[in-house]
Amino acid sequence: MTILVTGGAGYIGSHTVLALLERGDDVVVIDNLSNSSKVSLERVTELTGKEPTLYVADILDRHVLRNIFSNHTITDVIHFAGLKSVGESITKPLEYYENNVVGTLVLLHEMLQAGVDSLIFSSSATVYGNPEKVPLSEECQTGGTTNPYGTSKLMVEQILRDFSLAQPEFRITCLRYFNPVGAHESGRIGEDPNGIPNNLVPYISQVAIGKLECLSVYGNDYPTPDGTGVRDYIHVLDLASGHLAALDHKAEGSPFKAINLGTGVGYSVIDLIQAFEKAAQTRINYRIVERRAGDVAECWSDSSLARQHLGWQATRTIDDMIRDTWNWQKNNPDGYGS
Ligand code: NAD
Ligand code: WQD
Repeated sequence: MTILVTGGAGYIGSHTVLALLERGDDVVVIDNLSNSSKVSLERVTELTGKEPTLYVADILDRHVLRNIFSNHTITDVIHFAGLKSVGESITKPLEYYENNVVGTLVLLHEMLQAGVDSLIFSSSATVYGNPEKVPLSEECQTGGTTNPYGTSKLMVEQILRDFSLAQPEFRITCLRYFNPVGAHESGRIGEDPNGIPNNLVPYISQVAIGKLECLSVYGNDYPTPDGTGVRDYIHVLDLASGHLAALDHKAEGSPFKAINLGTGVGYSVIDLIQAFEKAAQTRINYRIVERRAGDVAECWSDSSLARQHLGWQATRTIDDMIRDTWNWQKNNPDGYGS
C-alpha cells in the first residue's frame, strides 16, 4: 500500500509514518513545515532504514496534490495536516478555518479526481464540547465547541459525513483522539511545541528540565477526586497503531465512521505531576491558579467501539507515557533544534 500522510512531519504524523514504514507500507508525506521540522522524518528514516517521500508544500495547493496523486499510486490518505492551538484559533479564526476546513475540501476534491477513496481524518474529543457525561461514547452529543479550532473539527466531520452519503464507495474514518502524549521509546522523535507549551505534559516536561520555572495548575476546585481536571491521556504510539488498525478495517461497516481513540481511563493534573516526579526523579514546582477559560472538569473516553470495530485498544500505561516523554525531553532539551 502507498499511504499519503498529510502533516506527516508533525508530532502524531511522524510516529504514524514510522509505524507505516515499519510494517512495510510506502509513505508519501505532504507537509508545509509550518509547525514541524523535516528532522523528524530524517530520524524516522534513521530508526526504520526506510525513507518516506516528502513534499514540502501546502495542502491548500491543489496543483501539488494533483501532482502527488499522479506521481504515486496512492491507496489511502491519512489527514493530519491542520492547525491545532485552541488559544491561537480564537485570535486567528480565518487561518484555522482555511487550513482545517478549506484544506480538507481541497484534499477531498483531489482524492475524488484521482479516484482515491480511503481517508482517515484526525478528529478530536473536542467535538463533544462540554461533556454531558463521562465516559464519552460516540453516541454522546457533539457540538457546543467553544473555539474555532474545535468548531473546525466538527465542521470537517459534518462535511465528511455528507460527502460519504454522496460518494458511498468512499471509506472515511474520523478518529477522535483524546489527549496524545509520550514519544517513541528511542527518544529520537517526540513532541516539539513552538514557544511556551499550552498543553500539560509538554509544560511539565519543560519544568522538569529547568526551562520553565513553575507549572500553573488551572484550578483545584473541580468536582473530581483531587479537584484538578481529569483527562484521557493516550500514548502517541498507541494512537499510531490505531491508524494502522483503521486502515486494516476500512472496508467493514458503513462509508463513514467516527471512533474514539482513548484509553478509557482518566488521570488528574496531580496524577500527572506525580508520574513525572517518579520518572524524572525530581520535584515538579507547581502552584494552583484560577481555572482556565473553556476547560471542562473531566473528559475521558468509552473506548469500546474502537475495540469492536478496529480490534484495537491502547496498551501503554501512564507511566510508559511519562517515561517516554521524559526520555525524549532529556535527550532533546531543545526539541529538533537541539
Ligand atoms: P502537529 O502540528 O505536530 O502536526 C500537524 C502538521 O501539519 C505539522 O507538521 C504542520 O506543519 C502541518 N500542516 C499544518 N497546516 C498545513 C497545511 N495547510 N499544509 C500542509 N501541512 C500543514 O500536530 P499533531 O499534534 O501532530 O496533530 C495532528 C492532527 O491531529 C491535527 O489535525 C490535530 O488537530 C489533530 N489532533 C491533535 C491533538 C493533540 O493534542 N496533539 C488532539 C486531537 C486531534
Ligand atoms: C490538560 C489538563 C488543564 C496546562 C487540549 C485541546 C484539545 C486537544 C488536546 C486537539 C487540563 C490542565 C494544562 C497547564 C494545567 N487538542 N493544565 N496547566 O485542554 O484537555 O485539551 O489538547 O484536539 O482540543 O483543548 O489539554 O494538555 O491543555 O490540559 O493545569 O499549564 O491540564 O486545565 O485539566 P486539554 P491540556
